[in-house]
Amino acid sequence: MYDIGIDLGTSSVKLLLVSDEGKTVNTVSRSYPLEFPHPGWSQQDPLKWWDAVCDGIPELIRDIDAGEVAGIGTAGQMHGLVALDADGNVLRPAILWNDGRTSEETDYLNNEIGKEFLLSHTGNIAFAGFTAPKILWMKKHEPELFAKIDKIMLPKDYIDYRLTGRFVTDYSDAAGMLLLDVENKCWSEEMLEICGIRRSQMAELHESYDIIGTLLPDVAEKLGLSPDVTVVAGAGDNAAAAVGTGCLKEGQCNVSLGTSGTIFLPSEGFRHDPTGAVHAFNHAAGNYHLMGCMLSAASCLKWWVEEVCKSDDYNGLQEEAAGDGACSRLGENHVYFLPYLMGERAPHNDPFARGAFVGMSMDSGRADMTLAVLEGVAFALRDMLESARSLGITVDHSTLCGGGAKSDIWKTIIANVLKVRLDLPDEEQGPGLGGAMLSAYARGVYGSLDEAAAAYVHMGGKVEPDEQLMAKYEEKYKVFRSIYPVLKPIYPGC
Ligand code: XUL
Repeated sequence: MYDIGIDLGTSSVKLLLVSDEGKTVNTVSRSYPLEFPHPGWSQQDPLKWWDAVCDGIPELIRDIDAGEVAGIGTAGQMHGLVALDADGNVLRPAILWNDGRTSEETDYLNNEIGKEFLLSHTGNIAFAGFTAPKILWMKKHEPELFAKIDKIMLPKDYIDYRLTGRFVTDYSDAAGMLLLDVENKCWSEEMLEICGIRRSQMAELHESYDIIGTLLPDVAEKLGLSPDVTVVAGAGDNAAAAVGTGCLKEGQCNVSLGTSGTIFLPSEGFRHDPTGAVHAFNHAAGNYHLMGCMLSAASCLKWWVEEVCKSDDYNGLQEEAAGDGACSRLGENHVYFLPYLMGERAPHNDPFARGAFVGMSMDSGRADMTLAVLEGVAFALRDMLESARSLGITVDHSTLCGGGAKSDIWKTIIANVLKVRLDLPDEEQGPGLGGAMLSAYARGVYGSLDEAAAAYVHMGGKVEPDEQLMAKYEEKYKVFRSIYPVLKPIYPGC
């Protein structure tokens, strides 16, 4: 039998068809547009997500007997606000995780409600991308639409709703709304009241591996699947990626280098960062995790290569940047790049931060700037790792997944900047694989997620950091850290 893993990303949906033995037999992706109606705003039409899923699944299952598809597990971009009216219609484009419009609402929550209150009721402080400040924004700026809200959903929950008709979410994704009491796994009545919403507008809470229903008959027909196909609650994309890389237990770490960049650290019991820089969320495996998130990671390289260099030659530009053998340029760059193209979440919590190149001279060229982009993202990941290390967490090895994990040069830079050994799963599509694993586990194919991970996740190699390169990057990281505080006064909002 097979499971379908659906990874509802920011630029595309990636669909994986995975056998009970854990082999990915087909992948299909469909992209959809991202709207930036104002600088720093980011939104997307949920109907386009649904159309992309419906368009992709028939192609995904084209070469197998469709009756052998038994389950579906979704993983989705987190924090997005999807608002539906009483008839199930989408009220406005979803406001996404990397949208920075809610600085006033975020300040209100952090300063007037207070970080202490937020930390004690949810485990987290407010960030512009979280769902609660978006609800407050809609209440203030779109009161007529706000009054029509019947259901508040996260992106992957909208797909599950269309697949099954069930209004459900899972703890790992709900944790990023700032409405969940993460430690006690229930909605915070206090936070719902602060946001002016009712319990009935919120989804039923589930573990990621709970089966929430089967396909609606008309949907099954449209997709070419059996109506008996089960659907699990699924997970936020980072928790699903952790499952899909076998990062299930305390002591493990997963770095995801997708549109966003995250550092994911499972923990057995609930723990939180008293400064709030690192998020304290639930894991899809039933335990908890800490996570640092930077808003623009692989998207910085995409911006540099496609928008600025007007190229699609990712490999060529990166090879030019890195040099080769004795002519390696790694650790020798004098140009720095701040990757804050959409503001920054951890550790600065600053929706007004912006990208910058610093340190160019007459002999600096494209190669130095490409290298600075790769290094700037790695330094920002290190910032988050340092926040985690300041909580007493030791990280000396990690798995790596996401589109950026395809680049050997980037992997080398990251291992040396973070000072960790990187273990590289064969499959870089962590969230989709995690979704399929949650589904197979829910169907009883495996007795535990550990057993599923043993079958599905295989390491294809590793990158060990090098003493000399680590030392060079340590010096450069000190310089990188000093740049943001100097530039902060020039960003708007100060
Ligand atoms: C996590 C976060 C991002 C999105 C990207 O907190 O905002 O990683 O989930 O899809």
